[in-house]
Amino acid sequence: MTPIKEVIVNKITNINPIWIMRQAGRYLPEFRDIRKKNNDFIKLCLNPKLSSEITLQPLKRFDLDAAIIFSDILMTPYGLNQKVNFKKNFGPILGELNLDEISNLNETDFTKRIKPVYEAINLVNNNQLTKDKSTIGFIGAPWTLLVYMINKQSPKIKLKDDFFKDNFLIRKILVILNKFLKVHIKNQIKSGAEVIQIFDSWAGLLNERDLPDYIYNPTLPLVEYIKSLNIPVICFPRGIKNYKSYCEIVNPDAICIDYEVNPTQIRKDIKIPVQGGMDPKILLTDKDNLKKEAIKFLDIFKDHPYIFNLGHGVLPETDPNMMDYLVKTVKDY
Ligand code: CP3
Repeated sequence: MTPIKEVIVNKITNINPIWIMRQAGRYLPEFRDIRKKNNDFIKLCLNPKLSSEITLQPLKRFDLDAAIIFSDILMTPYGLNQKVNFKKNFGPILGELNLDEISNLNETDFTKRIKPVYEAINLVNNNQLTKDKSTIGFIGAPWTLLVYMINKQSPKIKLKDDFFKDNFLIRKILVILNKFLKVHIKNQIKSGAEVIQIFDSWAGLLNERDLPDYIYNPTLPLVEYIKSLNIPVICFPRGIKNYKSYCEIVNPDAICIDYEVNPTQIRKDIKIPVQGGMDPKILLTDKDNLKKEAIKFLDIFKDHPYIFNLGHGVLPETDPNMMDYLVKTVKDY
């Protein structure tokens, strides 16, 4: 069994596997080289040769325990025929939502539109570099995808006042997402994904009273579906604050925490395996500080099943040497 699965499934505490969210990305010059020549981000995600190569880039440099497939949570709306563009220095821009068109879409059409993503997973999983490592597939949680599909761009700090005005539309989208996220999960697993992470990046935008409708109820059937396929599922409800309730209700196999929660409190409150937590900005400081912070997390979770990761994606301005130092620090602990 791979180290990450040992921690999640067998709840082993004497090893410290590590992978990093956005480990394949802009802080690596070899990624920027490929990106420079490939202006269209979606096309890049749909090029299995290049996207598998990008996925493997960090594994060539660092002793990481997982490969997370180079793709995006917005490949789901793309698969549903909503236009998705990535504008430089701005982020994603989505097109109009055509509910009739989406409602008529079947499983085969959806799978066909994003098939290269599955081919990339297959290439990654069969590469020597991922031997003894976990290939991680992922989806955006229904809530976070709903935010992008309705808002059509990142909401930054808050939702527009009229976000919830079309309840019929919201209900319809959630039903559609439930269906096609299951298809996307199944396809990734069939292609070699051994762990699934659910990114709920905008969980922090909701009030506590809206969590059942938009987070707990839509996420739970997906978590149960992944478990029924005998695949471990990690949930990352970024900014949720009340991780304890989330874990009790949604009950994933492991929980990924953000950098705004107190890890000592998490250690007291949470019974399931934990992942992540360190502030990505620590990697922008110096080696002594980085070591001190990484060891702080390893000490807190010493007797708890723990996968080292950050509390959000690695920042583009990170020096790859700092990443190298972090991985070595965790491995030498
Ligand atoms: O290494 C990895 O983590 C795998 C690849 C990955 C990407 N996006 C590639 C990417 C993963 C797991 C994601 C998930 C994702 N995408 C999330 C959830 C995690 C999070 O950050 O909260 C979200 C919210 C998105 C949507 C998205 N994609 C945004 C808001 C942006 C623009 C801002 C940004 O961070 O660049 C993207 C673009 C994106 N996705 C890039 C990469 C490498 C940058 C593309 C570029 O080179 O311009």
